Amino acid sequence: MDYQGVLEEIARDVAPLIGSGEPAAYIPALADVDPKRFGMAVADLDGNVYGVGDWRTPFSAQSITKVFTLALVLAHGGDSVWEHVGREPSGNPFNSLVQLEYENGIPRNPFINAGALVVTDRLQTWTGDASSELLEFLRRESGNPELAFNAEVAGSESEHGDRNAALAHFMASYGNIANPVPALLDHYFWQCSIETSCADLALAARFLARHGLLADGSRLLTRSEAKQVNAVMLTCGTYDAAGEFAYRVGLPGKSGVGGGIVAVVPGQCTLCVWSPGLDERGNSVAGVAALDRFTTLTGLSVF
Ligand code: DON
Repeated sequence: MDYQGVLEEIARDVAPLIGSGEPAAYIPALADVDPKRFGMAVADLDGNVYGVGDWRTPFSAQSITKVFTLALVLAHGGDSVWEHVGREPSGNPFNSLVQLEYENGIPRNPFINAGALVVTDRLQTWTGDASSELLEFLRRESGNPELAFNAEVAGSESEHGDRNAALAHFMASYGNIANPVPALLDHYFWQCSIETSCADLALAARFLARHGLLADGSRLLTRSEAKQVNAVMLTCGTYDAAGEFAYRVGLPGKSGVGGGIVAVVPGQCTLCVWSPGLDERGNSVAGVAALDRFTTLTGLSVF
């Protein structure tokens, strides 16, 4: 497969869309990013990485980190996480509170904010330092020791974090959060603030294309768990747009409000695309279009 040629063709095809949508403004530190940025990378199973545009430029990973924390929690505690969080699409915005009371403080899935807070809480219980565990994992799997938290973004999220605080306190009232809420929120905000490039994320996500095997050949997840994470990405990874994303792209994917999206072709490769302009559901406009073009041009899809 000529990944480099495909990426260059995609970059030309989506150029008119770059700058469409709006960067996330509810986290003020994210609002300043140049909406005209676009990058895309593909990593194959051997760790070769191909890219186009701003594929080596760091951006705020945000909710893409939710995939990695879920994988780490499954690796530590196996199925026990599913006692605390479901795996059904929510059909609601990623920061919605509305289902939590009806469903007794058990969030619908690990990729909406409520579910990710539960998963980070589990990781905190397993490791004692959830955000550092995640950062070390991303550094190791991307091969980039420079990856770091962004203190300004984490601070901005904390300052404007009333909704996440409400979600965490509400779930704590149902006994579904084990750690003190302020400490949990800190780990969650640091987690979201990690700066990574498309190349870093495509490389770090390779265990999902390698059926659970890490870069050094050791096993993070069982084959079955890797399948499960990919399945939850497909059904829940782009929130209330997951149906449309599956229809257009046909791959497991996870977006973040920094404008990044990671996608997986199991057994073949991983992708990451970044462009900060978001649609009304919080997914990158040019990013979704680029992934749509990728599966159309290559025929690589799970369907
Ligand atoms: O908690 C938040 O709202 C952000 N730190 C992450 C949200 C996010 O990336 C959702 N993605 N589309």
